Amino acid sequence: GKVAVLLGGDSAEREVSLNSGNTVLNALLRQGVDAFAFDPAERPLTDLIDLNVDRALIMLHGRGGEDGSMQGALQLLKIPYTGSRVLGSALAMDKIHTKQVWQSLGLPTAKYEIADKRRFDAGKCSAIMEKLGNEVMVKPAQEGSSIGMAKVTSAKQLETAVQDAFQYDDQVLLEQYIDGPEFTVSVVQGQALPSIRMSTPHTFYDYAAKYQDNTTEYFCPSGLSEAQEVQLASLASRAFDAISGSGWGRVDVMQDNQRQFYLLEANTVPGMTEKSLVPKAAKVAGLSFDELVLSILSTSFD
Ligand code: DAL
Ligand code: MG
Repeated sequence: GKVAVLLGGDSAEREVSLNSGNTVLNALLRQGVDAFAFDPAERPLTDLIDLNVDRALIMLHGRGGEDGSMQGALQLLKIPYTGSRVLGSALAMDKIHTKQVWQSLGLPTAKYEIADKRRFDAGKCSAIMEKLGNEVMVKPAQEGSSIGMAKVTSAKQLETAVQDAFQYDDQVLLEQYIDGPEFTVSVVQGQALPSIRMSTPHTFYDYAAKYQDNTTEYFCPSGLSEAQEVQLASLASRAFDAISGSGWGRVDVMQDNQRQFYLLEANTVPGMTEKSLVPKAAKVAGLSFDELVLSILSTSFD
């Protein structure tokens, strides 16, 4: 069958997606799969029908590709696709609703407040800072790759950061900063892969630390005790299930200095660039990049 690798799109993560998509496409071609690149920002999706596509491998990050809309469209076109379905995709795209679901199930996630563009009151910034521990992460609810994010330590900075984040989303998550290392757990076909710990000299694991400079250190195995690794894997699996994630994905987690884990977010189309995390974890689990890509392709349901 013919595989369309969906890549690019028109989200803020377009560049990352082109990189992920082309890397994945090359892996498919290396393995003799009849595959080609398809950028939904450049042509109508219904071309997939005329092109006799058998399945779609979704490598679109962010809105329009990772948020359920593409998944819904492909479902209506009756084209099998990889990864999470509409509900899981839509939920995971929104960091606020993701936290609300986790919270309701008793899964650990940092304290937070919501800033809504339609009724944001800058006068409340001091109170919010105090309530969240005076170190706060500001995040557009529906973005990826740390786009629009900031760490703030004063009410004045909070106000500025929220206004900046409103350029990306009407809903902004204000989250208690967890002082400790960031971990990530990849989930592929129901299996949690070894966790990775990221260490960055940047204030946090931001866009540049992710893609642009070579200062980030990745530890896999992550250095957790065996018991903590099991605990983290179980937490990530439950968190992914909770948001109706399926097929493959990645759950990001912080650990504080008491060694408690706090769920940050779930990604239903995590990065697959040369620098990305899922391929690193797969490698440690004994799965080559090419094998990983075939495994992801097999998550497309008919
Ligand atoms: N949003 C980026 C692609 C990631 O989670 O890897
Ligand atoms: Mg993300």
